[in-house]
Amino acid sequence: MKLYQAPASPYARKVIMCAHELDLLSKIELKLTSPQSEETYGKINPIHRIPALELDDGLVLFDSRVICEYLDSIGGNKLFPASGLGRFRVLKLQAMGDGLCDAAVPRRQETLRAPERQSKEFLASRERMIRQICDAWEGTVEQLQGVNIGTLAVAAALGYLDFRFPGDEWRKGRPKLAKWHEEFAKRPAYQATIPA
Ligand code: BEZ
Repeated sequence: MKLYQAPASPYARKVIMCAHELDLLSKIELKLTSPQSEETYGKINPIHRIPALELDDGLVLFDSRVICEYLDSIGGNKLFPASGLGRFRVLKLQAMGDGLCDAAVPRRQETLRAPERQSKEFLASRERMIRQICDAWEGTVEQLQGVNIGTLAVAAALGYLDFRFPGDEWRKGRPKLAKWHEEFAKRPAYQATIPA
């Protein structure tokens, strides 16, 4: 299998952490992809999002949620509870982790524009979303239990904040979330995927 990825992408990081946890990494060739190489990448993944997973028979899977679920299905079904409320709890956590990234990645892109072209309103609204998601996790930290697609998505999202927005100091005022992250970050899957 080939995984088209970018080390800075928190969605790709979530997928690679899943592969680590499922012991599938040796079966996956990592292919560096730039979000700028639209013409060529668009032929592999017409929705242009990173990552995409090309299977050995040529089928290309995207987006990161589909890829994670596929990897889990061939890796022993350890990260997605099969049914019941437990399944929806972790899917919701994944949606929150991805939601934080859906705010933080465009925020990052906006900050790369010339200062006079940046929208203060856009940046403020993304900052608010990120703050509110982190506050929600601080208030329900007991739900960040175990290693599953939900907790991996939360860890990837917080890791992206550390990487791109260290000035946010998301740990300030959120001691429970900070403690949870400190423990989770000890996992080899997290340590091996910290973006440089
Ligand atoms: C980044 O550089 O922050 C980034 C790169 C690729 C995908 C998402 C984010």
